Amino acid sequence: MILEARNIHKIYTNGKKELHVLKGIDLTIDIGRFVVIVGPSGAGKSTLLHILGGLDSPTKGQVFFAGRDIYGLTDTSLSKLRNEKIGFVFQFYHLLSEFTVLENVLMPALINTGLRMRRDALERKALGLLEKVGLIQRITHFPVQLSGGEQQRVAVVRGLINEPEILFCDEPTGNLDSKTGEEIISLLKRINLENKMTVVLVTHNPELAKIADSIYRLQDGVLEN
Ligand SMILES: Nc1ncnc2c1ncn2[C@@H]1O[C@H](COP(=O)(O)OP(=O)(O)OP(=O)(O)O)[C@@H](O)[C@H]1O
Ligand SMILES: [Mg+2]
Repeated sequence: MILEARNIHKIYTNGKKELHVLKGIDLTIDIGRFVVIVGPSGAGKSTLLHILGGLDSPTKGQVFFAGRDIYGLTDTSLSKLRNEKIGFVFQFYHLLSEFTVLENVLMPALINTGLRMRRDALERKALGLLEKVGLIQRITHFPVQLSGGEQQRVAVVRGLINEPEILFCDEPTGNLDSKTGEEIISLLKRINLENKMTVVLVTHNPELAKIADSIYRLQDGVLEN
């Protein structure tokens, strides 16, 4: 088992209003699995993914990564864990606007002290991945010069550069045409199989559920099998 969530609750408070988004989520994920979580817009999929990935603490409950309670770690240890073992592809990409495509992709690797790889080897790896997603002609472009789908592909490559043990993907094909979307999914599936990288993918597209080892549905704050 690589990840375990126990009784996760998330309550957002806006002034006096409370929004109870997650109402007791239990989930265990084994190494190398491809897990898909579906659910309607606003169900809390991104919220859950951020909590599972160590980005946002739950109101109640615990997340264990390789047996370690991640929200019990110091900020420094959690950042190190996220940087070295966890990859993230965000729903709205979060690319750094003042850096080029290649720089954006290299960024997590350059701050990864656990990765003993020389800059030229890293660049070769980045270029190889960018080639696979059809962006080799775009490496010196800035995010603003790219289409939504191109930015999304950059975000996928950036999520993979550190060879994470687990990759969290939030709607990684939401902005792609069906052919490009399928290419991204088959790239993820290939790396999942070849490198035993665990994938947790969130989507409201039921089509994507086809390639999953396990599928869950998030609705009304609970996860159903
Ligand atoms: N920071 C926040 N403060 C208050 N409410 C929030 C916050 N973030 C999300 N929410 C609310 O929590 C609910 C779940 O949001 P979330 O983004 O997790 O949904 P989602 O399932 O990812 O939706 P989508 O498919 O549209 O991306 C929504 O009703 C949203 O408005
Ligand atoms: Mg979302």
